[in-house]
Amino acid sequence: MKPLESKLPSVGTTIFTVMTQLANEHGAVNLSQGFPNFEPPAGLIERVEHYLHTRCHQYAPMPGSVPLRAAIAGKLRDLYGVRANPDSEITVTSGATEAIFCAIQAVVRRDDEVIVLDPCYDSYEPSVTLAGGRVVHVPLAPPAFAIDWDRLESALSARTRLVIVNTPHNPAGTLLTAADLDQLAALLRRYDCYVLSDEVYEHVVFDGRAHATALAQAELGPRCFAVFSFGKTYHATGWKLGYCVAPPELTAELRRVHQYVQFASTSVLQLALADYMREHPEHHLGLPAFYEERRDYFNRLLADTKLTIRPSAGTYFQLADYGAISDLPDVEFARWLTIEHGVATIPISVFYREPPAARLVRFCFAKEDATLDEAARRLRAL
Ligand SMILES: Cc1ncc(COP(=O)(O)O)c(C=O)c1O
Repeated sequence: MKPLESKLPSVGTTIFTVMTQLANEHGAVNLSQGFPNFEPPAGLIERVEHYLHTRCHQYAPMPGSVPLRAAIAGKLRDLYGVRANPDSEITVTSGATEAIFCAIQAVVRRDDEVIVLDPCYDSYEPSVTLAGGRVVHVPLAPPAFAIDWDRLESALSARTRLVIVNTPHNPAGTLLTAADLDQLAALLRRYDCYVLSDEVYEHVVFDGRAHATALAQAELGPRCFAVFSFGKTYHATGWKLGYCVAPPELTAELRRVHQYVQFASTSVLQLALADYMREHPEHHLGLPAFYEERRDYFNRLLADTKLTIRPSAGTYFQLADYGAISDLPDVEFARWLTIEHGVATIPISVFYREPPAARLVRFCFAKEDATLDEAARRLRAL
């Protein structure tokens, strides 16, 4: 047999796995990978236990369990005023990652171009490559990480099939406003392309701001796949459950892919989430205040270090500038910090095709006091 030629030759193990392994090897406080170290709500766990004993262990419906899709539709209506038909516009997936993959496979054809805004989440590009498409990187430059509308406009062409946006933004911690979405809609008017809006941190927005979903923008909604994650919202990233909301034509294509990637997501968890969403809307409504308190706590701790905090308006990530501590490039700095000082972070250059000359690392502050306290104690020693 000839040696296997990789379809993803430039893909290695993700930085999140690499840094978590390094953190484990060196006993570091792991503020790298984005997962909370607190538990899902007790009432949700109780619902899971309940359904474990109700003979619902066989395949869930391919598009998602009926009560869960109904609960999602109710939340979209109550929170955003978005009317989505659970039968034809909402699909439950195995994490937002599966939704992103299926949306990309559904619309991107050979040699199509897909625009991403760097720094961007690492699953986008391999999914585009597997679909035979080509990624066009448009940078968001620090410190503001705002969209450079001129650069975006010049990247658009008749070849553009999809534009991927992410709000609240990982790793920058920025939000797209309703005005930004209007501007995006105006820019795309002349192009026959779709939008993939990654909104997994929809409930992690701070300082009284509101999340603006692309679904509610009149011109973007009809051309948009919006993806969400139960993992982020219910402190249950290991459950790998999410969903995609898209108009019927797009949903039909997404489901053609979904039914051969995953077919259906875990039945017990879907039923438990449906009950909990319906009965406890206060959970997601309370998340902005919950995470704002975590952000402020962490920021107060970092104030006693040589790190300079970059404001975070959303997500559970905090960028910090380490220029006063080291001249090392960020990947080397992150390794050094983990191995020598026992705090694991994510270097932001890994989210770029062409990284800027910034000295920034990303901390995840979705952690209990004791974990953040210990990280800060170690960082103060720098
Ligand atoms: C921006 C972004 N999109 C998508 C995902 C994937 O979400 P899920 O765990 O639900 O697949 C993540 C997870 O970290 C993320 O940060």
